[in-house]
Amino acid sequence: MEIVLAEHAGFCFGVERAVQSVYEKLKTGRPIYTYGPIVHNEEVVRELEEKGVKVIKDEDDLERTVPEKDAIIIIRAHGVSEAVYNKLADKGFEVVDATCPFVKKIHRTVMQESSLGREILIVGDPDHPEVQGIKGWIKGKSKIFQNLSDAEKFSPNADSDYTLVSQTTFQSKKFQEIVAIFEKKEYNVNVVNTICNATEERQRAAESLASKADAMIVIGSHTSSNTKKLFEICKNCCENTFYVQTPDDLDTGRLASANLVGITAGASTPQKLIEEVQNNVRGTYF
Ligand code: F3S
Repeated sequence: MEIVLAEHAGFCFGVERAVQSVYEKLKTGRPIYTYGPIVHNEEVVRELEEKGVKVIKDEDDLERTVPEKDAIIIIRAHGVSEAVYNKLADKGFEVVDATCPFVKKIHRTVMQESSLGREILIVGDPDHPEVQGIKGWIKGKSKIFQNLSDAEKFSPNADSDYTLVSQTTFQSKKFQEIVAIFEKKEYNVNVVNTICNATEERQRAAESLASKADAMIVIGSHTSSNTKKLFEICKNCCENTFYVQTPDDLDTGRLASANLVGITAGASTPQKLIEEVQNNVRGTYF
């Protein structure tokens, strides 16, 4: 059996930066909070909680929270809306913004474009915190598209101008298909492809490996949007694809007949977990 790790897998730049900023602030000895889980990975969040980091889950939780003296709050990599940003400061927290710079760029784009009167179209999952955060920087009308059928059903207003952006982790191929539908409708749309390079790299590497592998293991949280996409892509190319959060979730017996086992991991999956899963497979078969 050969075990191959995808060329691009695990922590991306934005996630690494956000997690590091929490560890840096812990060194100050001041009370540390994060707004939402700093990244979509339960293991990472649990380790930080063990070090005393408190997570404020949502706006209701924020309302109830009385910050400790000198408290620092770190905004997660996915970003937050302008309203949440202001509420955090009003509560008296020192705010450290660990929003990924690629997500920040989308906030700036939608704010500028909507201030010029353009309607904003977002391709992404309306329930995902990143999309909710983006929506919260728009100064006017907006609409969210999750799939091809939403795009097909949309009837643009001939008098309106539109700017289209995407959730950073949206599947690149699906995004192109949605853009093609909008372009056919022939209206004034400015398409800004905001899919992150790290996402594309991980998706391409996963697809290429899964198309050769007899079994694929995708490591990441079930709350991680980009891990879910990696799973869909791998499952499409390789029927024996397994989605695991930790090494304990993997039934290594199901890999027995595989010559080539591929491994990939979402952008919020730490290196440590990837190594543990690799070692688990090696421990069983080597
Ligand atoms: Fe940022 Fe891209 Fe990661 S948007 S958080 S570098 S997946």
